Amino acid sequence: MSEASERLAGIVAGHKVVVVCGTGGVGKTTVSSALALGAALQGRRVLVMTIDPAKRLADSLGIEGKLNEATEIDLVAALGADAVPPGAGSLHAMMLDAKGTWDATIRRFAKTEETQERIFANSYYQRASESLSGSQEYMAMERLLQMYEAGEYDLVVLDTPPTRNALDFLEAPDRLMAVLEEGVLGWLIPRKRGRFSAVSAGVRLFGKGREAMFSVLERFMGGDVIRGIADFVGAFSELLEGFRSRAGDVMKLLRGEDTAFLMVASPNRIALSEALYFHDRLAEAEIPFRGFVINRVRPTSASSGAPGADPWAAGFERSDDGVRSAVVEAVWADHRRRARWAMVDRHHIAALAAHCGDRVPYVEVPELEGEVHDLDALRLLLDYLR
Ligand SMILES: Nc1ncnc2c1ncn2[C@@H]1O[C@H](COP(=O)(O)OP(=O)(O)OP(=O)(O)O)[C@@H](O)[C@H]1O
Ligand SMILES: [Mg+2]
Repeated sequence: MSEASERLAGIVAGHKVVVVCGTGGVGKTTVSSALALGAALQGRRVLVMTIDPAKRLADSLGIEGKLNEATEIDLVAALGADAVPPGAGSLHAMMLDAKGTWDATIRRFAKTEETQERIFANSYYQRASESLSGSQEYMAMERLLQMYEAGEYDLVVLDTPPTRNALDFLEAPDRLMAVLEEGVLGWLIPRKRGRFSAVSAGVRLFGKGREAMFSVLERFMGGDVIRGIADFVGAFSELLEGFRSRAGDVMKLLRGEDTAFLMVASPNRIALSEALYFHDRLAEAEIPFRGFVINRVRPTSASSGAPGADPWAAGFERSDDGVRSAVVEAVWADHRRRARWAMVDRHHIAALAAHCGDRVPYVEVPELEGEVHDLDALRLLLDYLR
């Protein structure tokens, strides 16, 4: 185990909440699940909260089709008795569902059952809860807080949704509050002579960049719908107080000493510069950033630098057999290509290391052959993560 992965293992061991973030497709779900598995094998009671895992991974975690429900994974059945040490803890997985968490949150904060029912029955709510800007991000945080507070786990690992900007989800609680507050105060006040302007309402509520929500508004505009929205907003205003204090609690948890943020990045220039940007923004926001996981690093087969163009100079025996020579040349060309990729990766990783110095550890996880979609494959990653 490298010194860096020991440091990472110490970070996971020393926290109750690990938030795994990063841009789309870098391996957040995979790394979250592997970290959770590692902590469970080391004796902790662990919950991994995943978002949109690939179907085969969801299948092997036993959560396919189960939303917002913690399901225990039978580690012995999945890995074999030999792979599970006697002191192992437990691993639960949950697939997050923004809509379900919205419903649970409404239930929690609506003061009366009647308000609850009014909101649930409101067709606008049904659409809004699926598409309200930032709702998925916000709800991931909300659910995290619920699971943390329930105290059933020693560690909760949160996989975050793929956002265009890795910071989106951090700002989600504030944004959601602003949307709701503005909406309640001014949204549906009729315009001159009672004319309602969908355009200005949409822009006021969601800002110019909120086309998705705006198109929902526009699509469903109509007399009944406007009345429905008014009703929804009216009922929702009751919840604001609950949301406000909840968003505060979420931020407190994220900033608190129980929580560690890790960032997954691929070893390419753009991904790493985004990761660095994220690191700096988290530091500004006083969020405890603890380390990078550089995933899918292409392995170097040799440390002796770039292979030359000529296989024969590298020691392959020449032969008169044309087919054999062609095979040697093709294999050598492939080897050179991989060596070049690996060198490019090393170059980018060195830049990251230079930026972070000794302050923030980073670990490297190699590109494995094939997809990582079951617990055995996740276990292979553990050699690099703990
Ligand atoms: N080290 C690795 N070696 C090989 N394949 C990997 C590795 N890490 C992840 N993968 C594969 O890459 C794909 C994307 O991984 P994953 O779903 O974890 O990314 P993600 O960041 O969660 O994506 P999204 O942003 O869409 O949620 C998956 O098919 C996974 O099996
Ligand atoms: Mg994912």
